[in-house]
Amino acid sequence: MLQEIATRVEEIRKKWEEDGRRVSSLKELEEVRIRYLGRKGLVTALFAALRELPPAERAEAGRLLNALREEIQGEIERLRTELQAAAEAERLRREAYDFTLPGVWRGVGKLHPLTQVRLEIERIFMEMGFDVASGPEVETDYYNFEALNIPEDHPARDEWDSFYIGEGLLLRTHTSPVQIRVMKSRKPPVRIICPGRCYRRDTPDATHFPVFHQVELLWVERGLTMAHLKWIIEEFVRQFFGPGYEMRFSADFFPFTEPSAQVHIRRRGGPWLEIMGAGMVDPAVFEEVGYDPEEVTGFAFGLGIERMAMLKYGIDDIRLFFQNDVRFLGQF
Ligand code: PHE
Repeated sequence: MLQEIATRVEEIRKKWEEDGRRVSSLKELEEVRIRYLGRKGLVTALFAALRELPPAERAEAGRLLNALREEIQGEIERLRTELQAAAEAERLRREAYDFTLPGVWRGVGKLHPLTQVRLEIERIFMEMGFDVASGPEVETDYYNFEALNIPEDHPARDEWDSFYIGEGLLLRTHTSPVQIRVMKSRKPPVRIICPGRCYRRDTPDATHFPVFHQVELLWVERGLTMAHLKWIIEEFVRQFFGPGYEMRFSADFFPFTEPSAQVHIRRRGGPWLEIMGAGMVDPAVFEEVGYDPEEVTGFAFGLGIERMAMLKYGIDDIRLFFQNDVRFLGQF
């Protein structure tokens, strides 16, 4: 009967209003759609009942049913659009990048400026035909002093306030003991450099530190003169610093060289900085290692690596090299 159909349509509409309101996801919406409009849905079942009505009532009942179905269908479409938009917004929110956040910085390591300078010095001298030698940092009194013509009571020892660490042992005060070690183990000609760490009981200031680095150079052969020494140093300074630097030789004294010199460098217009002691190997040293001073001559120098780096990079305090502050170290 038409009346029954109309009542049923109202019931379903009420129920739908509640069910429709409760839907909160696309999945729930699909479940509700099937419950109302699916093949066995509530609305679909009513359409089946139409056939049992008298023909005169069918048109009116059909109109009521169609209206209900369209209403529900329209509402479902509206909800679907809404829920899809919400899901999309949620997805974008979840996948969004915040481009204003700082990135994850992976620092790139670098060699310490003193290592860079040492490698550059080694490169220059290796290209000139020098070998790289080495010796111990804990040295005996004999190699550090005695064999270098600095006997026990020699006043020159005062120049090297040293770290003694027991019977006849000390932290080497310079790389010159390597000269002795090399000459005792090889026959001339000898052409070596020896970079290494040295220690002196110095009070730290802008140009002194108790730990520092030197490069020793030794060239022994027939017929070498002070002119060769000077050329080697000039050529080295030219290659290492390039233009814009000045060099100064002056007389000095070392027990193991005769004559002896010191070399100062400055950036044109800047202050002079002593970078090395140098000289012709003293005959007493040759005799000590078993070389004949009538046969060979030679020269040596000891170069301060920190001071080379300070001049090259314009660093005015040697202590910066040893503070391990990456803000400083990273600049080179
Ligand atoms: N060993 C000297 C020093 O440390 C430098 C030097 C080396 C001088 C070689 C002459 C020859 O001061």
